[in-house]
Amino acid sequence: MDKLIYAESELYSEHTYDCLHQIESVRMHGGFDAQGTYIPPRSKGRRAAIEAWTKALKSRGGDLFDANASLLSGARMPNHRQAVFLIAQGVDQPFWNSLTITGKIEGRGRVLAEMAFPDLQEIIEEDISEMALGHLNNGLLAIHGIDEGGEPDKGIGGHDVMWFVARDIVFGDQAHPDVEPPEAIARPEAGRRLMPEIEPQYEGMLSFLMNLLMIEFRAEIGFEATQKTFRDQALFLDRREVAETAAALIGRIRLDEEIHVESLRLYLGEFRELTVQTIDGGSLPGSELIDRFWQGLVIWATQEQPLIAAENQYKSLKSMILEHEQGEKILQQFDQLAG
Ligand SMILES: [Fe+2]
Ligand SMILES: [Fe+2]
Repeated sequence: MDKLIYAESELYSEHTYDCLHQIESVRMHGGFDAQGTYIPPRSKGRRAAIEAWTKALKSRGGDLFDANASLLSGARMPNHRQAVFLIAQGVDQPFWNSLTITGKIEGRGRVLAEMAFPDLQEIIEEDISEMALGHLNNGLLAIHGIDEGGEPDKGIGGHDVMWFVARDIVFGDQAHPDVEPPEAIARPEAGRRLMPEIEPQYEGMLSFLMNLLMIEFRAEIGFEATQKTFRDQALFLDRREVAETAAALIGRIRLDEEIHVESLRLYLGEFRELTVQTIDGGSLPGSELIDRFWQGLVIWATQEQPLIAAENQYKSLKSMILEHEQGEKILQQFDQLAG
C-alpha cells in the first residue's frame, strides 16, 4: 500500500538538480537534470504524494474533479493575429503590459503561503488524514503559494520573477512605464451564500479552491498564447535567441502550473466523495456543494467574465494604438483581424 501521510518536509522536498535555474544573474526556482530537462520546484515528495492520493481516491470509486478543455472557451482580446500584428507595427506596449500584469498577478498568489485556512476535517464525517485534503494546511497550499511568488528572502524567484525575466531579456529594462493589473471584475453574486448548509468560513474555503482551479486552468490560454507570440519567427527578428529563451521560461511556468491544476482537481475530487456535516446537525454529500457552486462559476468564468474583460481590454488597447503616429490606420487593420 502506498504511503498516504506525509510530513511537511517531505512535501517540500526537491529533486537533486544537475544545474540550477538561473538566467543572467537571476536565480529562479526549480532546476535541470543531466539531460537539461526542467524539473519543477518542490516536486519530489509532492508528486509522489499526489499520485498516491489519486490512486487511493480512484480505488474508493472517485476521480479527479472534472476540468476539461470546454473551460477554455470565451472571448479573447487581442487574438493571436492581432497580438502579432501590433508587435510587428511597433506597438509593443500591450504585450509588454500583459507580461508585467501576469507576473504581478502570479506574485499575488504568494498569499497562499501566508493565509490561514480553516481545517475541513471540522465539517467532514470521514477521516481525511490520509488524503490530500488532510494536508492542505500541512504544506500543500503554502508550497503552491511559494511556486507563485517565490522565496524573495532567499533570492529565489517564482512565477512572478519568471515573467519579469522573460519580459526584460526581450525588451530590456523598463521598456515601458510600470503597470498594475486592472481591478478584478466582480461577479454579480459575490458575497451571496451558495452553501448555506455550512458555516461561511468553510464555504469561503471551498469557493476559494474552485475559483483558484478556474483561474489556474484558464490561465493556460494566455500562457500558451504568450509562448506562441515569443516563438513567432516574424517577430523580435534581431533578438530571436532571447525570444526563444523567454518562450522556454513560459513553458517552465506551464509545467509548474500542471501540478497546481492537478492538485486542485484532486482536492475537489476528494471532497465530492465525502460526507459533510451541516449546521442543522444533518449531513449531505460533498458533491452536492461542489457541483452546485461550480455550475454557476463555469458560466461566469467562460462566458460572462471574458466578454466584459475583452471589452475593457479593447478600450485600453485602442488608446495605446492611437498614441502611435499611424494609430488610426493601425487600429483599422487591427479591427479587421478580429474574429
Ligand atoms: Fe503560477
Ligand atoms: Fe499556479
